[in-house]
Amino acid sequence: MEQIQIIDAKKHIGEIVQIGAWVANKRSSGKIAFLQLRDGTAYFQGIVVKNEVGEEIFQIAKNLHQETSVMITGEIREDSRSKFGYEIGIQGIEVIGESHDYPITPKEHGTEFLMDHRHLWLRSSRQHAIMQIRNEIIRATYQFFNERHFVKIDPPILTGSAPEGTTDLFETDYFGDKAYLSQSGQLYLEAAAMAFGKVFSFGPTFRAEKSKTRRHLIEFWMMEPEMAFTTQEESLVVQEEYVAYLVQSVLDNCDYALDVLGRDRAVLEKYTQLPYPRISYDDAVTLLNENGFDDVTWGDDFGSPHETFIANSFEQPVFILNYPKAIKPFYMKPHPTREDVVICADMIAPEGYGEIIGGSERATDYEFVLERIREFGLNEEEYSWYLDLRKYGTVPHSGFGLGLERAVTWISGIEHVREASPFPRLINRIYP
Ligand code: 4AD
Ligand code: MG
Repeated sequence: MEQIQIIDAKKHIGEIVQIGAWVANKRSSGKIAFLQLRDGTAYFQGIVVKNEVGEEIFQIAKNLHQETSVMITGEIREDSRSKFGYEIGIQGIEVIGESHDYPITPKEHGTEFLMDHRHLWLRSSRQHAIMQIRNEIIRATYQFFNERHFVKIDPPILTGSAPEGTTDLFETDYFGDKAYLSQSGQLYLEAAAMAFGKVFSFGPTFRAEKSKTRRHLIEFWMMEPEMAFTTQEESLVVQEEYVAYLVQSVLDNCDYALDVLGRDRAVLEKYTQLPYPRISYDDAVTLLNENGFDDVTWGDDFGSPHETFIANSFEQPVFILNYPKAIKPFYMKPHPTREDVVICADMIAPEGYGEIIGGSERATDYEFVLERIREFGLNEEEYSWYLDLRKYGTVPHSGFGLGLERAVTWISGIEHVREASPFPRLINRIYP
């Protein structure tokens, strides 16, 4: 007998099959039991009729508890009443693993309780839906960049340098020397772009940020493309095409997950329309000042209320262009006619989700980069390989980083970034 996955039920109508599953929920009367079954691919209903299966199997069904694992035998049938469209008429049940007093019941639980039980919470339909969307975003990312001939490059996780500033670093001992967990693969990707033209990485990054907000993780995954012979203007087009592609892929392939999360498709549809609006940092400050934000002056970084106000002024994700040089990293290209700003942009997601992309054109002039490294108090020797890139065939190049969990949080329409990571690392949490 063939063992199948629930998601493939439609290919097996009328067949007797086996399915390994967990009991998510159960209802029963004297003669019939309804099992809500999940196997990780989908949920559907199993029906046990006493008259058909006999007393012994019916008693097993009646005594199943939430999250008992079972091997089910039965016939796949159409079920026009459920959205999934199929059910299984159960003929046999083998209990694989008992489950008693499962801590997460269908009633409401507090967040801390759920976070303490993250290893079990992941089994719930809402978490399942969020992870489906995360998975789709990962799949679509590879497809988007592979179609455009980008080479996937894996930068190191253990590094000797700190591209995004020296304060948020996780330090570790490297055989008597210091090493740091990567904050961004960018500098290595710049080297790779000079070898392979267009490259991208997709991997974990670490920030020892003492931020306790709904947008910050300590460990998060970043998608970082780096493109040779590419200006910032061209990079912005890649960025908006990529984000619209992610949204469209979720709309196309995550129907059930969007339903579970109650995400309004009409809202997401707007984000597939290009181009996205752009506003300069200068104009953003003016916009804020004109609307009662007198806590921002030119030169300040934006806080989340500011980003949210700017985002709410537009219908789609918005690019904020050319921030002050003083609040951005050393590697950004100087503006051709202005001393005080650099060629960069952040993409701010709508609906208050904040920055999802940070990117820039990179400085290509050897002397300029050397001077910036010195200004930032960085160790020149450690950056000597990075300076080599400006010595041997330097070209205009640009890149950006998209935070995976922020994109998942936004596209899913959920409240907090912690639910976008299977096992989130937060300032006060490393368990489980
Ligand atoms: O803006 P960031 O710091 O940019 C860089 O690291 C560049 N080197 C990227 C590049 O040009 N290759 O980070 C990029 C993105 C942010 O826009 C945000 O989406 C996400 O990474 N991010 C975080 N996500 C979750 N928790 C945090 N603590 C994050 N910090 C940044
Ligand atoms: Mg940033």
